[in-house]
Amino acid sequence: MPMGEAWRPGSWRGRPAQQMPAYADMAVVEQVESTLASWPPLVFAGEARALKERLAEVCAGRAFLLQGGDCAEAFADFQADKIRDTLRVLLQMAVVLTFGGGLPVVKCGRMAGQFAKPRSAPTEILGDRELPAYRGDIVNGLEFTPASREPDPRRQLQAYSQAAATLNLLRAFTQGGYASLTRVHQWNLGFVGNSPQGERYRAMADQISEALTFMAACGVTDLTTPEITRTNFYTAHEALLLGFEQAMTRIDSTSGRWYDTSAHFLWIGDRTRQLDGAHVEFCRGIANPLGVKAGPTMPESDLLRLCDVLNPENEPGRLTVISRMGHDKVERHLPPLVRALQREGREVVWVCDPMHGNTIKSASGYKTRPFERVLAEVRGFFAVHKGLGTHAGGIHVEMTGQDVTECTGGAQAITDEVLRDRYHTYCDPRLNAQQSLELAFLMAQELKEERQALRAAG
Ligand code: PEP
Ligand code: CO
Repeated sequence: MPMGEAWRPGSWRGRPAQQMPAYADMAVVEQVESTLASWPPLVFAGEARALKERLAEVCAGRAFLLQGGDCAEAFADFQADKIRDTLRVLLQMAVVLTFGGGLPVVKCGRMAGQFAKPRSAPTEILGDRELPAYRGDIVNGLEFTPASREPDPRRQLQAYSQAAATLNLLRAFTQGGYASLTRVHQWNLGFVGNSPQGERYRAMADQISEALTFMAACGVTDLTTPEITRTNFYTAHEALLLGFEQAMTRIDSTSGRWYDTSAHFLWIGDRTRQLDGAHVEFCRGIANPLGVKAGPTMPESDLLRLCDVLNPENEPGRLTVISRMGHDKVERHLPPLVRALQREGREVVWVCDPMHGNTIKSASGYKTRPFERVLAEVRGFFAVHKGLGTHAGGIHVEMTGQDVTECTGGAQAITDEVLRDRYHTYCDPRLNAQQSLELAFLMAQELKEERQALRAAG
């Protein structure tokens, strides 16, 4: 990385860029980008700063980050009910973690902008035909036809519109009463409510309701304490399609700094984290809180250099490392990274993505993730941090509020044979609502143990 070179929103254009679509008509790309640049921001710089402050609390061990949502949002899947249902499960998970784990939870959706996908191969072969790989709805279509797989820059405008409407709904739900703790029972509706996890949730919600009744009798109500009725909810996506991200990047008049206003939090994927690459160059100059994915091939020296480049001031909350090692690798590959940063006094938030290192092809040919392995990676992640005395700061999951059958296992014991029943994802397999809740209960227990160990230590 040639240090000291001036950053500009477009300085990434001089760097090698992985995973970018090959657009046929660059004039249309430029038109789209200038249209986007003239459209309003989706999020405000002050909100991204507030998130950074909350993440500094996570960094200090005083909060937990919950990040979740679709692997890829889709244009054809754009419905209010689906957005509400994913939010509802995230709220349930957050309340399980807060109540059981005893820490405030920072809530962040892989939502309202998670449209671009890195792929392991540039093309896909089906039968005797080879076409460009699907790169997310912001780039091309999933349908396996030459027309649909041709990258179309105009899709970026539709992605912007869908992100804006999704964010509008999320703001209404989280600020307008739906996320009120007094409704903790109502988030447990439908198929979730009738499951073992739903039962477990109901018992906990009863305790919360009792506590709220007690607090109300003491004079603390939603009128005296509006925090009971609303919650802050942030958005995140992978900063992959850099032309789009650049077009959404604006100077904040308050701080004079550049913010990417397409989301509060942006992360760099495991395939685009090259130190001299375009994605790192773009992200280093925006003041949003950032994430970087770390897979089993991440050397300590690269992670340290990424900290230098992405967080030169070593500010807590600026950088989150999202570990995605795999259930059988996390206890071997994560400790050297944690120790290296510990040794050098680097402030980062440590988050576990138990999805991307555990993808397999099932016997019936579906891309799936055994839920047991997802849980095993989370347990391994907590064990590593317990062993090194660092805070297991958060979770990053691909999940949905729908009753899908995409990951095998869990309390419903989803088998390979039933994957086809409700396999709806556009990209990677997601946890369904019950699996998400089961995971939240496991993490609440782990967090409680972490806190007990800290208390015992002193
Ligand atoms: C993702 O988060 O969907 C993703 C592609 O992850 P990773 O970069 O860790 O493979
Ligand atoms: Co994914």
